[in-house]
Amino acid sequence: MKRIDAVVLGATGYVGGELLRLLHAHPVFRLAAAVSGSRSGEAIGNMFPHLAAAYPRVLFANPCSWVDDIDRGIDLALFSAAPHGASADAVASALEAAAKRDLNVHVVDSSADFRFSDVGDFERIYGIKHPKPRLLKEFFCALPEHEPNSPAAHAGHPGCFATAMLLASVPLSATGLTESTLFVTGVTGSTGSGKNPQDGTHHPERHSNLYAYKPLSHRHVPEVERLIEKATTHRIAVNFVPQSGPFARGIYVIVQAKLIDTSHADDIRSTFDEQYADCEFVNVIEGIPRLKDVVASNYAQIGVVVKDDTVVVMCAIDNLVKGAAGGAIQWMNRLWSLPESSGLLTSPPAWT
Ligand SMILES: NC(=O)c1ccc[n+]([C@@H]2O[C@H](COP(=O)([O-])OP(=O)(O)OC[C@H]3O[C@@H](n4cnc5c(N)ncnc54)[C@H](OP(=O)(O)O)[C@@H]3O)[C@@H](O)[C@H]2O)c1
Repeated sequence: MKRIDAVVLGATGYVGGELLRLLHAHPVFRLAAAVSGSRSGEAIGNMFPHLAAAYPRVLFANPCSWVDDIDRGIDLALFSAAPHGASADAVASALEAAAKRDLNVHVVDSSADFRFSDVGDFERIYGIKHPKPRLLKEFFCALPEHEPNSPAAHAGHPGCFATAMLLASVPLSATGLTESTLFVTGVTGSTGSGKNPQDGTHHPERHSNLYAYKPLSHRHVPEVERLIEKATTHRIAVNFVPQSGPFARGIYVIVQAKLIDTSHADDIRSTFDEQYADCEFVNVIEGIPRLKDVVASNYAQIGVVVKDDTVVVMCAIDNLVKGAAGGAIQWMNRLWSLPESSGLLTSPPAWT
């Protein structure tokens, strides 16, 4: 079977680790370099003991020299799981190095650096200068479920909260039956904040605790509003209250809206069924989604309840898989014309 070399930038982080885990089971992508600025030369198993058996004797590669070990002229799947503001630089350096070896590259980036086509939007929302604005035109951003094509050579994956919000909001907004404001709450597990503990995200703060943060001002909101409009042509305002949950993995989002026309309320559920009928990873269920039924997998569950003039849509995903590493592999599969579900069909373990 054809093999394609895969390289992971930011490979020592939570998303990077998930990419390594998922790539090990992938039928076509083969890990060629797990790149790390801080731990190059160290064994992957030192950083990730759960991956020691998958990658015995494999060492993290140096950002400046990983390309030397890649054969000339081959295909390369380049994933970046570096932080926003750093990822674009890391990707640009990797593309330059790849060009010198005539590599044929597709990139999927998990950070925010390639989610906005307008550099001004990125700089206003993230408060930093975009490191590589010229690269933006080579990227598109969407969930695979909402974009049937691949409009550019490289993809920026939406964020983890954004993934759950979009899965729930795009079909709802597409009905045109709701008022133009969606009220959204979302609970995320602690891996959503990355591997470095901070005051508000450290285990003693989050364990046995639940609290909202950044109500109505989370930076994923503009990204979600733009992508809803792109997918549906409807301008929707998202009032979002994120919350920190006392668990490591998973995101649970609840979207509520008022119906402007209750005579077609039955259409809402059928719109969801139709939107996701051919989407292998999105299950629109009859009951209530539960985190344990999706965690550690690329699957999403959606539940829809309509009562009188109110609609509620619930969506559960794994933040590290569907919201980052799995979603990135889903795009990479498509960019390389592989079946979109390649390497991603493992069921959730449920009892985590
Ligand atoms: N955690 C989630 O649930 C989630 C979901 C969706 C998207 N994301 C996005 O995915 C990316 C990774 O998230 P994460 O949670 O895995 O973060 P993380 O645990 O903090 O890991 C980030 C990794 O990036 C590397 N890095 C740091 N500075 C770098 C630089 N200047 N250049 C290149 N690499 C650098 C670090 O590895 P080295 O220092 O060893 O190189 C680090 O291991 C972020 O952009 C995040 O916003 C995260």
